[in-house]
Amino acid sequence: MPLPDEFLQELVFRNPITDVVSSYVRVKQRGRTLVGLCPFHGEKTPSFTVYPETSSFYCFGCGAGGDTITFVKKIENLSYIDAVRFLADRAGMKMPKEREDDAVSKLRMRILEANREAARFFHRVLYSPEGREGLEYFYSRGYTDKTIRRFGLGYAPGNSALLNELRKKGYTDEELVLAFLATKSQKNDRLYDIFYRRVIIPIIDIRGSVIAFGGRVLDNSEPKYINTSDTLVFKKANGLFALNFAKASKQSSIILCEGYMDVISLHQAGFTNSVAALGTSFTDGHALLLSRYAKEVILVFDSDSAGQKAAQRAISLLRQTGVRIRVVTIPGGKDPDEFIKRYGPERFKLLIERSANDIEYQLMQLEGRYSLDTSDGRVSYLNEAAILLSKLGSPIERDVYAGRLAEKLSVGKQSILEQIERYRTATRKKQQKRELSQAIKQTEEIVRRVNPMAVSHLRASKAEEGLLGLLILNPDYIKHVSEKLDPDNMVTDFNKALYKKLLERYKNGQMIDLTFLSADYPDDEMSYISRMVQNARESVGTPEQALEYAEIINTEKNMLLLADAENLPDDKIKEMLEIMRSQKK
Ligand code: GTP
Ligand code: MN
Repeated sequence: MPLPDEFLQELVFRNPITDVVSSYVRVKQRGRTLVGLCPFHGEKTPSFTVYPETSSFYCFGCGAGGDTITFVKKIENLSYIDAVRFLADRAGMKMPKEREDDAVSKLRMRILEANREAARFFHRVLYSPEGREGLEYFYSRGYTDKTIRRFGLGYAPGNSALLNELRKKGYTDEELVLAFLATKSQKNDRLYDIFYRRVIIPIIDIRGSVIAFGGRVLDNSEPKYINTSDTLVFKKANGLFALNFAKASKQSSIILCEGYMDVISLHQAGFTNSVAALGTSFTDGHALLLSRYAKEVILVFDSDSAGQKAAQRAISLLRQTGVRIRVVTIPGGKDPDEFIKRYGPERFKLLIERSANDIEYQLMQLEGRYSLDTSDGRVSYLNEAAILLSKLGSPIERDVYAGRLAEKLSVGKQSILEQIERYRTATRKKQQKRELSQAIKQTEEIVRRVNPMAVSHLRASKAEEGLLGLLILNPDYIKHVSEKLDPDNMVTDFNKALYKKLLERYKNGQMIDLTFLSADYPDDEMSYISRMVQNARESVGTPEQALEYAEIINTEKNMLLLADAENLPDDKIKEMLEIMRSQKK
């Protein structure tokens, strides 16, 4: 049973899209819209646009679009019904009575509950004789009982102990497999615990739900870690360990390290704003997430070459989000965990205070690659440095660093600035070109996925899209248009179905806008529909235009039928030619 229109209407009314979006994206007013950097793809020039009047958004860069609910779905990575629930909570509204057909949502709850039970179980075992080894392992790494409790650390004994425990509590085998807590043996089809003789680190999201686990071996065997794969409640590429605590610490900066163990040590040492990515390399999803909770990200990566490479990657992804970046270099090839243990929190604090920002850090890295006592080396270094500085948005910053370079290498500052300017122009052009071609590619891909027929019926689909966009913006046109255009004349399948849906809602006296469509259309389809609406916004938008589109569609349909004319009776062909002739006039 769908949610009542009245409920959805109030939901959107009580959650103005401007407010909802603003808690994730920095947007600026521009006319009657707001614009900002798109949270769904990396970009330098803002093309993410919010339309308060229609409670909708559209990104010209990646083609993502939709209503308020679609936005929450995408940004919080939720199902439709959970996004609705999220907004209802946000506005202090009660959900309509529990819906019966909500199987996925129920399954998510079950997985979250199973995870919570599992975390409790692992923690209990840690303090039992069976978990002795695990507890000793944590002690050997210097963790106190307080830390162990705070993070809910545990021990997985294996031998199907967890499986038996959760079965006893009524969880089905299917639920446990979907939760990534158990797996089927290929040999004999029986279930086994995935986490087996490992210490366990539960991953808790900012709402306090246990969404995943990391399990570490106690010795040097491989693989060192087993982590929960993607499940209905967990997307690895978006997960950050300890973000719940970091957020609660209410600091404007977040420390990003590489490993679980680093994070736990840092928290124990008082750096409660530390987080880490989970068993994957840093992604743009992580970067966006961090930029939502922090103004500044402090990178504390291992000082080996893998760590430095990872830092470079994180820097370039983070820079696209506009957060300030600092990079702590740990002396002596150590990771933060070892450093703190050996030298204590005070020394670590000093490292942070003296840390370089991303530009200084990258200049230092560059310097290491060239020998500055040869002319060749100096020229190459300056060139690379100019490329780096050309990426800085602020003229003041460019000036400051150009000055420093000039002094350091005894070169005129002006010539460095000129070189930077040259690269800037080139980069800007390249960037714009890249963003443009990316935009075209992305929107084409959306069309191909959602309405593949559009590609081979361009003229018809353009008219259909134009018309549907107009009808969604002006539902009062529907009556007139429906008299001229039979749904079966729509050429492409997706648009035909959408047109039928609009007609049906209109006939039933239901409201029409993107909010009411998002219950039935997944994200990609909402993006496609939003693009139609967007184009309609930019068009003349009169009822006459709508009727013209209808005519084009009728003509295109007839042409198609004619192309297939062998199969048509003669009088039908005559009739169609008649119609087409009258339309040409
Ligand atoms: P310790 O070696 O115990 O200090 O652990 P660490 O957390 O410092 O691990 P390390 O620096 O080796 O790796 C950093 C992060 O990469 C870990 O926290 C994991 O998230 C991930 N990782 C390391 N090894 C593996 C592995 O074998 N499999 C997977 N999936 N992830 C791993
Ligand atoms: Mn480590």
